[in-house]
Amino acid sequence: MKYLLKNRDLEGTIKLIYVDPPFFSKADYSASIKLESEAMDDIPTIRTSAYNDKWQEGMAEYLGNLTFRLMLMKDLLADDGCIWVHLDWHAVHYVKVIMDEVFGEKNFVNEIIWQYKSGGSGKRHFSRKHDTLLFYAKTGAYTLDPGTEKSYNRGFKPYRFKNVKEYKDELGWYTMVNVKDVWRIDMVGRTAGERTGYATQKPEALLTRIIESCTAEGDLCADFFCGSATMPAVCEKTGRKWIACDEGALAIAASQKRLSDADFTILTDDEKLRGKSGRLECAVDITAAGVSDSSIAEIKIIDYAPPMRSLPLGREMKDVVRDVKAKDPLQLIDFWSVDFSYDGAVHRPDKCFCKGKGVIETKCSRIIREQGSISIRAIDIFGNVTEKIVEL
Ligand SMILES: C[S@@+](CC[C@H](N)C(=O)[O-])C[C@H]1O[C@@H](n2cnc3c(N)ncnc32)[C@H](O)[C@@H]1O
Repeated sequence: MKYLLKNRDLEGTIKLIYVDPPFFSKADYSASIKLESEAMDDIPTIRTSAYNDKWQEGMAEYLGNLTFRLMLMKDLLADDGCIWVHLDWHAVHYVKVIMDEVFGEKNFVNEIIWQYKSGGSGKRHFSRKHDTLLFYAKTGAYTLDPGTEKSYNRGFKPYRFKNVKEYKDELGWYTMVNVKDVWRIDMVGRTAGERTGYATQKPEALLTRIIESCTAEGDLCADFFCGSATMPAVCEKTGRKWIACDEGALAIAASQKRLSDADFTILTDDEKLRGKSGRLECAVDITAAGVSDSSIAEIKIIDYAPPMRSLPLGREMKDVVRDVKAKDPLQLIDFWSVDFSYDGAVHRPDKCFCKGKGVIETKCSRIIREQGSISIRAIDIFGNVTEKIVEL
C-alpha cells in the first residue's frame, strides 16, 4: 500500500476496497498438496501451512497491525469509494470501533450478515453460522445500487395491496424489494468449479454482490489480503480493474494460477523472496523465423530443485519432496510463465502454464522481434518463485 501511494500515485483512486484479513481465530491454516506422477506410486500427501492467525500479544497486536493498514487503505480510497472489512465474531466488535475512528462513525453504511450453512456446530454455544462485513464509505458521496431480491409474503399467499406488484414461483407469492442486510449465500462447496483448495476461500457470489452494488465497469477495486484471489477473479468477470496483494507464498501461487487467463503485472518484494528461490534449468533455442528479422524462441523446462532449507516442512515431509525431486522434479512446479520481452524489472507473462492432473506443459515457443531478454518464472507447489533471465 505504501508503494502504491508513493511510487504509483494512487492516492484517492480506488473505488472499492474489500479485505478479508485473518479473523483472530488463533488457528494455523494448512494446505494439503497431493502430487501424482507416472514415475512414482502413491506419493504421500504433503501438509504445509497456508497462513497463521496466531498473535503472541493477543488482540492488541492484531488490532495494531490491522489499524495501520486500514489507515493506508483510507488514503488509497476515492472520495466516492467504499471499503468492506470481512470478519466474524472473534474480532468484529473491536474492529467496528477502530473503523469508526479511522473512517468516521458517520460514514458507517451497513453491517452485512453473511449467513451460511456449513461448518461445525456447538453444544456450549449456538452454532456460529455467519460472518460480518463492515461497510464504510469514505465520504457521503459514495455510490450504491443495492439491487433487488424476492421477499416472500406471509404464508406465501397474495396480499393484493393496491399498487404493489406481486409475483408467484414454486414456493408461493412474493414481492421484489431492495436487498436487505442479511445475505444467505452458500460457502464454496467441495465440488464447486470455483474451488481453489485455498483455506478460507470466499464464494464468488458474495464478491459479485459487493462489486456490482458499489462499482461500475472500469472502476478500480483492491483486496490487500486476497488469499486465492476471489475478488480479482470476480473483477475479471465483471469488467472491473483490480489490485491484489497477499503476504503468503501459497496465496500468491493460488492467485496466479486462478488468474492465468488475465492480463496483469506481478510486483514482488525481492527482499522477502531472498533465499526462497529454487534452481530452475531451462533450454532456450533461438532460430531464424525466415520472415524479416524475427526469430522463434523455444523454451523447454528441464529440471527444478526447490529451496529445501526454507521449506516450511518437517523432516519426513522433506524426504517426500527429495524423493519427488529425484524421480520426477517437474511435478514440484505448479505454474510457470514466460515474458518474452522482459524489461529488466517487471515480469509480464505472455504465456502461462498451470499443472493439470499431474501433468504440466514443459515447452513453449513464440516469434520474437527484438533482441532483448526473456524472463522465465516458475512457482513451485509451496509458492516459491524462481526466475531465470535469458539475455538474447
Ligand atoms: C481469510 S484469507 C483471505 C481469503 C480470500 N478472501 C479468498 O477468497 O481466498 C486471509 C489472507 O490474508 C493473508 N495475510 C495475512 N496477513 C497479511 C498481511 N499482513 N499482508 C497481506 N496479506 C496477509 C493470508 O496469507 C491469507 O491469505
